[in-house]
Amino acid sequence: MNDPKIIIALDYSTAAPALALAERLQPELCRLKVGKELFTAAGPAVLEKLMQHGFEIFLDLKFHDIPNTTAQACKAAAELGVWMVNVHALGGRKMLTAAADAIVNASKPPKLIAVTMLTSMAQEDLADIGIQATPAEMVLRLATLTRNCGLSGVVCSAQEAAMLRKNCGTEFILVTPGIRPAQASLDDQSRVMSPQAALQAGSNYLVIGRPITQASDPLQALLNINKEIGVVL
Ligand code: C5P
Repeated sequence: MNDPKIIIALDYSTAAPALALAERLQPELCRLKVGKELFTAAGPAVLEKLMQHGFEIFLDLKFHDIPNTTAQACKAAAELGVWMVNVHALGGRKMLTAAADAIVNASKPPKLIAVTMLTSMAQEDLADIGIQATPAEMVLRLATLTRNCGLSGVVCSAQEAAMLRKNCGTEFILVTPGIRPAQASLDDQSRVMSPQAALQAGSNYLVIGRPITQASDPLQALLNINKEIGVVL
């Protein structure tokens, strides 16, 4: 089956530009990520329209709540028919297990992945909330917990991909943002990696936003990246 590696982040405040971009892309070449901003503004209706165009959706809502509430939210996401959904690993073992159990019986269970530590959290931010471990130690600890609770993988920085691939096995899905193709602007990202380097480090899927969404020809930008990683359709 065709398994596009690129997930395009639809970071928009309304449905119109998201749908306009989708019109210019092709589902054989990418998947689409809908996050908190677009989903809060446009709701399930925008997912439905994107799916009508044939796109598979990563619903990036990072659920983090008591086990029952998180489980019911994941079940609701599964009922919407999304391809991937996520939770915060910091919700702990009971929450992660409840989330995984809640989607097993869906007619088409989405891939359930977890956010380990937000990459915006540096050492001093962890200390502020009483965590003495380093960000890298926390990422490994939370990824291991995620895997042991039966989830499919984690969102991680490409810098962490090799370490997680080594420790969490070949089947564990690694989804990495912070990707910048050759010659693309860094925007507000700092520690970036090229698409090819991220895949070589062990990443399975690359979340890419502005290098495609802000391009004058988004389809061409996507085709160029697919070419860079050796995907030719
Ligand atoms: O435009 P850009 O390629 O930077 O978009 C990256 C996407 O990945 C955005 O939706 C951003 O919120 C998300 N993301 C990120 N870094 C993380 C986690 C998610 O850039 N650590």
